[in-house]
Amino acid sequence: MWYYFLITEFIKHLLKAKTKLGFGIHSPYLFPLVKHLQKPVKNKKSIKAIENKRKKLLKNNSSIKITDYGTGSTKVKANGTRTVKSIAKYSLANKQKAILISKICTFLNPDNIIELGTSLGITTAYISTACPNAKIITIEGCPKTSVIASETFKSLNLTNVTLVNGQFDTALHNIIDNIDEINLVLFDGNHAKEPTLRYFNILKEKAVNNTVFIFDDIYYNLEMYNTWKIITQDNNITASLNFFCLGIVFFKKELSKQYLRVFY
Ligand SMILES: C[S@@+](CC[C@H](N)C(=O)[O-])C[C@H]1O[C@@H](n2cnc3c(N)ncnc32)[C@H](O)[C@@H]1O
Repeated sequence: MWYYFLITEFIKHLLKAKTKLGFGIHSPYLFPLVKHLQKPVKNKKSIKAIENKRKKLLKNNSSIKITDYGTGSTKVKANGTRTVKSIAKYSLANKQKAILISKICTFLNPDNIIELGTSLGITTAYISTACPNAKIITIEGCPKTSVIASETFKSLNLTNVTLVNGQFDTALHNIIDNIDEINLVLFDGNHAKEPTLRYFNILKEKAVNNTVFIFDDIYYNLEMYNTWKIITQDNNITASLNFFCLGIVFFKKELSKQYLRVFY
């Protein structure tokens, strides 16, 4: 049933999605954002360094004890022992998606960024190099995974990342109390309805006009897809972009309520 829905949605996406050329996107705010995505990446050297780090993690045979507070990977069970290479293979955004996220970040140039779900720190590294002047807080519940993420940040000399090892709920309440505004959030930790809506509601309290929220894996399962749709219909959200591999929602009041599919 789910796979039938997924295939139908994918065909719908192929037929309806706007290309990176931006044709058919009338918003003077969204058009340059989508156009920007076709530009080649600027920071090729940093990306090479991050991908070299990923390669090392993909070869790392050591096992760690996982504490997963989320939905886990679709490929391996959530709790128990996992090799670092299996986490690197199944739990991280691939290079193409990480580049998409980094291009969105470069274009929007947010000051304060929060990532829910650090894992080994690869996507955080992409965000950090895309926005060297931003303050990035990334949250990871699993202590052993956090240690490896810290090593990733250290080896790549990332100085604008603060890693919080803790459960999202606890960490978010502390962060929210100490921050004036949040400009970009990457939700990549718990692809279930109730917690995703809870984090969304906590974080939107600190959203401002230029804030965007990025939701990874909106087609993770039917529950996550329905949650994404609920969020796009929230009164605070104006535009939403469905990239299939992820979705972005905007709080910008000048944008009309709209839902666009975009190829990447
Ligand atoms: C899909 S991985 C993140 C991948 C990472 N963003 C990347 O692409 O490089 C999700 C991570 O979120 C963490 N996580 C899930 N639910 C959590 C929760 N409720 N509190 C803290 N961490 C959580 C998991 O331990 C896991 O490492």
